[in-house]
Amino acid sequence: MAGRKALILAGTGMLARVAEVLTQEGWHVVLPSRRYHPLDCELRPGAAARRSMRPPGHRPYRPGTIRPWGGGRAIWVEAHWDRPRELAAKAELALRGPADLLVAWIHEQYRRSVMGAVESLLADEAPVVEVRGGLSGTGTVEPPDPLLPLHPTQVVQLGTVSAYDAHRSLAQEEIAEGVLDAVRRALNGHATSTHQIGQLRPLVR
Ligand SMILES: NC(=O)c1ccc[n+]([C@@H]2O[C@H](COP(=O)([O-])OP(=O)(O)OC[C@H]3O[C@@H](n4cnc5c(N)ncnc54)[C@H](OP(=O)(O)O)[C@@H]3O)[C@@H](O)[C@H]2O)c1
Repeated sequence: MAGRKALILAGTGMLARVAEVLTQEGWHVVLPSRRYHPLDCELRPGAAARRSMRPPGHRPYRPGTIRPWGGGRAIWVEAHWDRPRELAAKAELALRGPADLLVAWIHEQYRRSVMGAVESLLADEAPVVEVRGGLSGTGTVEPPDPLLPLHPTQVVQLGTVSAYDAHRSLAQEEIAEGVLDAVRRALNGHATSTHQIGQLRPLVR
């Protein structure tokens, strides 16, 4: 997957694991959000200098050896969903070319404006993975409603409780794994589809 570009909207929250995996697989990942949250896979300021201070006998990097994180990197840009055009402009600069993948989990009131603003940053037919919450405020299930019809979309519908245990809420790891499965489907060229993670039923305590 080396050399490809992904835009992850809300990739510093519960989608951080998805950002990390893509980065480790060599993707150039752009993460707009309001605040900087360091990811485990990021090369932090000063890391290059620290790596150069190796013990005696250390053999420096040679072409052909595996580079840290497969050569990918994550770039955070400060952006707010309530300023979608500014968000798109900053993301475009950081992407440095059309995005091959969009992963998004955006609060309902900003979803249309932000997805609309970033559509032009996507390569032709680049796939989209969108996470949708479980029950709406009225207690009904949100209907799958892909917003970018020119881009095959894997909708990840979140359940209310774990798939493995009706006595606990959907775990963050279950969400990350489900979204990563959707990313694989998207990159394998699947047509638009919806997959549910967890179960849609009241939590039994
Ligand atoms: N991707 C997510 O993790 C996500 C997305 C939607 C809903 N939720 C729901 O939110 C609940 C709390 O989880 P959480 O604390 O991780 O969620 P959160 O506070 O909603 O933040 C989730 C992600 O969205 C970003 N974000 C939130 N508001 C934003 C805004 N106005 N503009 C730009 N970026 C924004 C956050 O980064 P900043 O705070 O730095 O901006 C973070 O990356 C969860 O129960 C989940 O169901 C999570």
